[in-house]
Amino acid sequence: MSLEVTGLEVAYGRTRAVRGLTLRVEPGEIVTVLGANGAGKTSLLRALQGAVKPAGGQIVYNGHDLTGQGAAARVRAGIALVPEGRQIFVSMTVHENLLMGGYLRGDDKLNRDVEAIYDRFPNLASRRDMRASVLSGGEQQMLAVGRALVARPSLVMLDEPSLGLSPLFVERLFGLIREINAEGLSILLVEQNTHMALETATRGYVLELGQVTREGPAERLAADASMAEAYLGGGADPAPAPA
Ligand SMILES: Nc1ncnc2c1ncn2[C@@H]1O[C@H](COP(=O)(O)OP(=O)(O)OP(=O)(O)O)[C@@H](O)[C@H]1O
Ligand SMILES: [Mg+2]
Repeated sequence: MSLEVTGLEVAYGRTRAVRGLTLRVEPGEIVTVLGANGAGKTSLLRALQGAVKPAGGQIVYNGHDLTGQGAAARVRAGIALVPEGRQIFVSMTVHENLLMGGYLRGDDKLNRDVEAIYDRFPNLASRRDMRASVLSGGEQQMLAVGRALVARPSLVMLDEPSLGLSPLFVERLFGLIREINAEGLSILLVEQNTHMALETATRGYVLELGQVTREGPAERLAADASMAEAYLGGGADPAPAPA
């Protein structure tokens, strides 16, 4: 897969949330997008997901122009989102949540792929018929990732997946991201946990007021001591709450 975003504009009325953003994800990459609250990170992902219509620019995936296409077309093209705040259906069972990830699939391999998710996440397997509300925050994040994987994506976008997780679950989450990347999926990772994100990613972009202010190899951004303070509002990783 390859994703090429050129000159993307997202606006809500007079608020320009994303301004002339150009970004790419090459096959096999983990690319991170960093930025403070309100920088436009979620707006970028929602435009890529097809949930908001860009006010300008172009989104090309595997050579196909998806700019004017809706959310279903994005899923079919292989783009899956693990949304901000997880957005688990808490009144549904774990199993039903996973099936939702495959709602656009017309093939008969869905059950097999859901079983593969249970192999990967034994905590979900043992709770498959329970309501998702019984899961801890960390387990809900795993469920959100599992639900995205059920769509058989080639690109997984994650919106601040580590937010609110205990340090143990943050470690497991970033391990999981590396694992699915090693299995061939490309990753677009939005984070405020700058340290972990740059340790995991190959390249990164810094967003400030909707614009890319820095980009480059993750090691170079991580070594840039001025970056955290100047662009990320102090640079300290937010203290994680218990999962
Ligand atoms: N639905 C909306 N309607 C109007 N303005 C919005 C809407 N969603 C976001 N915004 C505004 O767009 C800008 C970018 O918001 P966005 O949620 O994309 O930022 P973010 O980087 O994801 O922030 P956070 O770290 O808090 O999640 C902000 O000024 C925000 O107030
Ligand atoms: Mg956001």
